[in-house]
Amino acid sequence: MTPVHVRVPGKVNLALCVGGTDEQGYHELGTVFQAVSLCDEIVAEPLPAGEFRLAFQGEGAAFLPVDDTNLATRAAKLVASHYGVDSGVALTIRKRIPVAGGMAGGSADAAGTLLACSELWGIHAPREELRTLAAQLGSDVPFLLVGGTVHGTGRGEKLAPIPARGTYHWVFALSHGGLSTPAVFREFDRRSSPRPTQLPEALVGALLAGDVPGVGAALMNDLQEAAISLQPTLQRTLQLGLDAGALGAIISGSGPTCAFLVGDEDEAQRLGQTLAVFSGVRAVRSATGPVAGAQVMIEQ
Ligand code: C5P
Repeated sequence: MTPVHVRVPGKVNLALCVGGTDEQGYHELGTVFQAVSLCDEIVAEPLPAGEFRLAFQGEGAAFLPVDDTNLATRAAKLVASHYGVDSGVALTIRKRIPVAGGMAGGSADAAGTLLACSELWGIHAPREELRTLAAQLGSDVPFLLVGGTVHGTGRGEKLAPIPARGTYHWVFALSHGGLSTPAVFREFDRRSSPRPTQLPEALVGALLAGDVPGVGAALMNDLQEAAISLQPTLQRTLQLGLDAGALGAIISGSGPTCAFLVGDEDEAQRLGQTLAVFSGVRAVRSATGPVAGAQVMIEQ
């Protein structure tokens, strides 16, 4: 068995409409995901049956648990038990997606691990099957197998592609510290009453037309106020980007990463320089979307 390398993207939510809760406390969502070129890389190597090891490198590696609670380990064990595989795996994950940043870094690693283990162990499971397993691990995991620009409903796991035109240039301002997704949803519940999860028509129309300024103007996130109330500096970060000419500014998912849409690579670079000097910003990254979901990388 030769090692398998997988690349998996992070995501930004162009719209995130949050409705009422189901019997398990999960919120009904209406969202538009876009996969972006800020990617984690996973190497899966064979180990004897029953041995599962995990190590991280790069962005936030020191803060991540490497025991059985990690979603990547749970993904590997789920593939092994579902397909009755008698092998183990050593996973090494190089992180670029910010940890606890609202860009689905943990879900991306789980999605990439499902694919990596399926290939390493010779299962070659169809994407549809992996998506079913992904939904058992978390609401964002199925999307990271699919990629592109997608309308998500249910808990975020029911997916319908949107044939968006154009390339979208993003600047991401990473914050000091992360935000806990359950804590942001709790704050949302404290502040708001449930409402219908209807996506803004202007956003979908602008995506279909490749109207990048139109997309920028239509970005929306029902969790934004809750995230800002937990990290008030985020309001200033968003305003700084808008004042510097971004076409749109939004908190990514449950935050605290702030996402700015700009017209091209030069604008991304200029905006990045402006944001990087603000004390509320830990680091800046630029990326484009949409990109594909988790992919096996062919070694040169
Ligand atoms: O599904 P996932 O494990 O990524 O969700 C993390 C947490 O976010 C959940 O435990 C829940 O508190 C919250 N959540 C929610 N409704 C969703 C998705 C996530 O309340 N649709």
